[in-house]
Amino acid sequence: IDAMAGLIQQRVPVADWPEDWFAIEDRIHRRDVLLRHVWRPGEVLQAARARGAQGVLNEVARSGLRGRGGAGFPTGFKWRACAEAPGAQRVIVCNADEGEPGTFKDRVLLSTAFDLVVDGMCVAALAVGARLGFLYLRAEYRYLLPRLQARLAERRAQGLLGAGCLGPGLDFDIDIHLGAGAYICGEESALIESLEGKPGKPRIRPPFPVTQGYLGRPTTVNNVETLATAALVALHGGDWLRAIGTESSSGTKVLSVSGDVARPGIYECPFGTPLAEVLHAAGAADVQAVTTAGAAGPCLSAGELHRRIAFEDVATGGSIMVFDRSRDLFELAHNVAHFFAHESCGFCTPCRVGTAVNARLLDKLAAHRGSPYDLEEMDRMHRLMQGASHCGLGNTATLALQDLARKFRPAFERRLASTTYEPAFDLDAALS
Ligand code: NAI
Ligand code: SF4
Repeated sequence: IDAMAGLIQQRVPVADWPEDWFAIEDRIHRRDVLLRHVWRPGEVLQAARARGAQGVLNEVARSGLRGRGGAGFPTGFKWRACAEAPGAQRVIVCNADEGEPGTFKDRVLLSTAFDLVVDGMCVAALAVGARLGFLYLRAEYRYLLPRLQARLAERRAQGLLGAGCLGPGLDFDIDIHLGAGAYICGEESALIESLEGKPGKPRIRPPFPVTQGYLGRPTTVNNVETLATAALVALHGGDWLRAIGTESSSGTKVLSVSGDVARPGIYECPFGTPLAEVLHAAGAADVQAVTTAGAAGPCLSAGELHRRIAFEDVATGGSIMVFDRSRDLFELAHNVAHFFAHESCGFCTPCRVGTAVNARLLDKLAAHRGSPYDLEEMDRMHRLMQGASHCGLGNTATLALQDLARKFRPAFERRLASTTYEPAFDLDAALS
């Protein structure tokens, strides 16, 4: 840890850190399904081939599997829509561009369960009839690239990828595409634009990628964790996943827990687990606030820790950040506002202007020059952005800010109370 602190002080890029250190950082504390799985070569592909495309589609639909990137869209519905879309040359995309602040669970899955992720892509390919797959890897995970490429090459040599891997005459191969560091490229249509070599600007949806995705072909885009879970569904069947979790959220959720906890790291819990239990496992002793979807989702107070990790309650892509009572939550809001002002792609006005206005309003408060009007203005801006933004970024950029300003008002009011107003022009003095 001391050596790591030294490198941080010397500003050595993370990509140049020794690889073993990531194993330390990604300590795994509790393993239920994905993280506990012992991978056996060929097992998933064999089971999927035995079920056939329709069988896999049926099992995934029966399992109730929902997208783990955050939105929770039913995977079975998505795969069937892609399989039935008119057109040829279907494509599978694994979205490994996790960029949400505080999220690092896909990195752990790619490091420790990569074969399961690749199996998931193969299973998806079998189900929808795809021959080509892309793994879109976050630029900051570049250090993983040689290892992942080497493993893909080994799988080709073992007959677990490439020619005939899905059955006689059924080929499927995967190309790894490295992102360039833009948060917006985690949005699936911006990701597809980027795959096509264009700037990552979100497309108008519909049409959704399942009908018109990469180069206009029917394309299935799934998160890393969704695909790994789908591989296990192909292996064990839909009822197996249904038996874990809740009625509306089957299976487990892998969570990245960070912030003011004694044991930050990766946790896997069945859906339905109370947030308090997760925080207890992570060693949170004092909680003021918890962000449940990084910077892009609700922020809960200490009185809401009974709430459950589930799409019907606390839906999360997997980023849990804990803030104790020593933290100034205004600073958190200020940071979040600047994050989104920086990451907005600038394509549509409500988000481009709204994120910049929010950042400036909070700059004013931070400089003790704000007024209650600024907070009202921020609230108005949130409502406008939520209704009028072109993609999810503009819609979700307001969620944490809104929650912070409503639930932790004193942190903002402290900035108002200490406002120093120095008029540039003294009207009274001038008139007298
Ligand atoms: P969305 O709800 O618009 O779509 C979710 C998925 O369902 C997409 O793959 C979409 O193509 C598909 N879909 C929706 N309606 C469909 C239909 N009628 N037919 C076929 N497919 C359909 O959500 P979006 O905007 O794609 O993602 C937003 C989520 O991403 C948020 O929940 C946010 O928390 C999360 N997010 C996750 C990050 C991470 O690092 N994991 C980063 C930023 C946001
Ligand atoms: Fe770009 Fe923001 Fe508009 Fe999305 S909402 S298209 S990120 S400007």
